[in-house]
Parts: sequence; C-alpha cells; structure tokens
Amino acid sequence: MTHKPVIAIDGPAGAGKGTLARRLAEHFGLPHLDTGLLYRAVGLKAERTGRSPVEIAGCLDPSDLADPDLRTDVAGQAASKVAAIPEVRATLLDFQRKFAAQATGAVLDGRDVGTVICPHAPVKLFVTASAEARAERRYRELRAKGVDTIKPRVLAEMAERDRRDSERAAAPLKAAPDAYHLDTSDMDADAAFAAALAFMESKGFRFSGP
Ligand code: C5P
Repeated sequence: MTHKPVIAIDGPAGAGKGTLARRLAEHFGLPHLDTGLLYRAVGLKAERTGRSPVEIAGCLDPSDLADPDLRTDVAGQAASKVAAIPEVRATLLDFQRKFAAQATGAVLDGRDVGTVICPHAPVKLFVTASAEARAERRYRELRAKGVDTIKPRVLAEMAERDRRDSERAAAPLKAAPDAYHLDTSDMDADAAFAAALAFMESKGFRFSGP
C-alpha cells in the first residue's frame, strides 16, 4: 500500500513524541512541524506584551518561533493556557493543515494532530509514558540545562499541564480512534523509533514520496 507520507504524532508532555517525530522525519526525509512551538510562541508573547493571544496567533512570524525561551516550562504553561482558547486554535489551524498538505508529505507532532489537524493521516501514533517516567526525563533535561529544580515540582507542573490539556473543551489531548498507542515508559529513543517503524511495517505502510 502506498500513501502520501503524513505522520501524525500526539501525546502528553515528556512522552518522547518530539524526539520520535524528528527521528521519523529524518528517516523518511520529510519536513517536521512541532505544533507545540506555535502555542508556546503565542503564550510567551501574550505574557510578555499583554496583547490578545488571538491577535498574536494571527501574525506570528519566524522570529517568534526561534526564541530560545520557547523551550522553558514557563512557555509550556503559557502555551497550555492560550491553547484552551478556541479562537487561538482556529487561527493556527490553517498554517498546520497547509504544512501537512505539502507535496512532500510531513511529520507533525502535538496534541490534536491525529484528531483535528490531520484526521486522514495514514499513520497516527499516540505516544504515552507513565507520569513518573515523563517527569524523570523532563527533570534530567532541565538539570542538564543548568535549571535548578526538584523532581516533585516538575511532576506537579506536568500534572497541571496534562490536566488543562485533557480537560479543555477545544481539541483536548486524546488519541484518535485509529491511533497506534506507544508506551515509552521503559523505552529509550532508539527503542521507541524501532517500535514505531515496526508498527508501520506491520501495517504495510510504504511511503511513495512526492
Ligand atoms: O508539545 P509542547 O509541550 O511543546 O506543547 C505546549 C503546549 O501547547 C501543550 O501543553 C498544549 O497545551 C499546547 N498544544 C496544543 N495542541 C498542539 C500542540 C501543543 O494544545 N497540537
């Protein structure tokens, strides 16, 4: 079976979906969009300027997406607040759909890629891991960056963001009914990549290219 190569990857924070998305994009030579960056850029700019998140979402520019502070937990929390606003989501939808529709195909990761952005993607992965495993990874990442934090705090912030993302009315975090669930609690990045490829092969996915 050949398909236009669109791979939709969703899941909660720290489950490893970003790393997996980058690996798959590199493997198949596809462009990759980390959709969380869009919400982080809107959230951070809204906090810094006090301007309306909807207005900011309508005029994001590439420099907004290059801000090194986008990877911080402050930006993550700000993102999950603006991500609950339906008008912000609607404004960002078009860009994400166009990215997915390019002739090359694409890999997108986020919270609603398989459910809302690309409901017809031939490959949908829902990447999860236990809260402890996710918090442990995030904690190590922060410590490696020199951020002074403690694990219970990372766990609490993650739980708060998970709750907000799962309980919101607009495009909540949830698996598409046809998504393949990949629990990475006991996997490293190589094992998660191998499991995703094995799933795709078992389903006979053959990407034909543009
Ligand atoms: O994936 P990342 O942690 O960078 O996402 C930051 C926040 O952006 C998430 O917690 C979520 O609230 C929001 N988001 C979203 N829909 C997406 C991607 C991210 O609501 N497709």
